[in-house]
Amino acid sequence: MQPISRRTFLASSAAVMLAACSNDQQAAPSTTAPSGTAAATTAATPTTAATTTTTTVPQVELPGDPFTLGVSSGDPDVSTVVIWTRLAPDPLNGGGMPGDDVEVAWEISDTDDFATVVNSGRATATPAHGHSVHKVVELAPGTWFYRFLVGDYVSPVGRTIVPEAGVTETRFVTASCQNFEDGYWQAHTDIAAQQPDFVVFLGDFIYEGGAGDVSPESGNVRSHGTPEPTDLVAYRNRYALYRSQPELQASSAACPWMVIWDDHEVENNYASTIPQDPADTAGFAARRAEAYQAWWEHMPVRLDAPTGNADDEYRIYRANRWGELLGIALLDGRQYRDDQACGDVPLNLEPACPEALEPQRTMLGADQEAFVAATVGQQGTAWNVIAQQTVMSSLQLGEAIVNYDQWDGYSAARGRLTADLAARQVPNAVVLTGDIHAAGVGVVRNGAPGEAPIVAVEFVATSISSNGNIPEELEGAVQGFVDIIDAELVHRGYILHTVTTDQWRADYRIVTDAKNPDNPEVTTYQTYVVDNGSTEVRIGGQ
Ligand SMILES: [Fe+2]
Repeated sequence: MQPISRRTFLASSAAVMLAACSNDQQAAPSTTAPSGTAAATTAATPTTAATTTTTTVPQVELPGDPFTLGVSSGDPDVSTVVIWTRLAPDPLNGGGMPGDDVEVAWEISDTDDFATVVNSGRATATPAHGHSVHKVVELAPGTWFYRFLVGDYVSPVGRTIVPEAGVTETRFVTASCQNFEDGYWQAHTDIAAQQPDFVVFLGDFIYEGGAGDVSPESGNVRSHGTPEPTDLVAYRNRYALYRSQPELQASSAACPWMVIWDDHEVENNYASTIPQDPADTAGFAARRAEAYQAWWEHMPVRLDAPTGNADDEYRIYRANRWGELLGIALLDGRQYRDDQACGDVPLNLEPACPEALEPQRTMLGADQEAFVAATVGQQGTAWNVIAQQTVMSSLQLGEAIVNYDQWDGYSAARGRLTADLAARQVPNAVVLTGDIHAAGVGVVRNGAPGEAPIVAVEFVATSISSNGNIPEELEGAVQGFVDIIDAELVHRGYILHTVTTDQWRADYRIVTDAKNPDNPEVTTYQTYVVDNGSTEVRIGGQ
């Protein structure tokens, strides 16, 4: 009887977790536990027999519960969505799976108790891909629940959404930068509680640093506990540490995600195949390929697996949309960029060196620049979103480039992008940004800061938990950024966007104290509103 009670417990936990997250009457799931056994799913008497399918659960001997990393979904369109999990009974030690392919059953229901299973099938988890599962399932527009089953085990329940083509309102999140050592994840608990329609995660899902010491001096509140990863297994273990956390599992299961990477998925501030630290140059391309594969294995993305070859591009930039409301270009600002200019001196207040201004410099690479021109403003949507990593609004102080890692350090590339938006008169362009561990709202101009025409509004999300980068003595200097309308440099958090055809509203959610796990408070710091057809940002929504 032990396996039966274990299944019941797991499934009940998932239902309770989702119920605890929910503040949405329409989507509020019941806390009714699913049928007691996986096999019972086949025999259960449904209340709506007409739409029920049957599920035969693959019988596999596993060393333990394989669903330690939770579930997620992602990249929905109007008829399909990707559902994801990774089988890992021993998540922090390579996964602990047998070295064979394993069949996994999946189920879709319109209720979280799976009283009626509306679709089901099987997917194959292979050792070559860390026994991850990326399954594209066909669904009508609406809110759905999904889960996986194998052997004696049932996964937690995920909630996912497929948008209507004619959707006229959505609530979604942008977030990034969740250094495990720097802070706790109250922000994820709050994201789950908000029950958004989707999350756009802008990168730094993991941090690659080694095992930091936990002390007031270091500022670390917990430790990775393992050295810096440089190969596939070590990156898998790092992702598994992050995905083992209940707060991240709750937000990952709450809605579909659209994920891109930033630098820490490989190494801080790497550029193309150039590592930040020259000492890491030998073998860096191979390391990057293994890091890219581990990223894919752990993300609910509608992408083929990378080849694993060090010389191959791995294209993740892509076009998503939320019906006819939002076109969403998801970009990769790391794989194709030129090396940071002028030695990448941080917080530099000297005039920029000539290298930074060279006209051939690129952030996105030629192919991705062409993709942006062919995508942004071409999807027939009310709003045209560019979701990417680094700050595009000017952070220059006079002739000084304060941060060479941001778009300021690639000004010619930015100029090509903004000139294209201006030439095509792309309306309602919105740039969504992470990376910099500070919250802000700015305007992107096609030319000189403070003077040239505005081509986009930019909403910069602060970090989920990563420490702020701007020292206190420079906080006043931020007032000198003429294209930054407002900023909040101290707190951790994320942005909750509410978008209708007529208006974009961004509520900046901030965590009161990400260093204190006993303080769950998350509040709205500020609200910014932009009307359709305007580039004026109204602070406080006034
Ligand atoms: Fe970061």
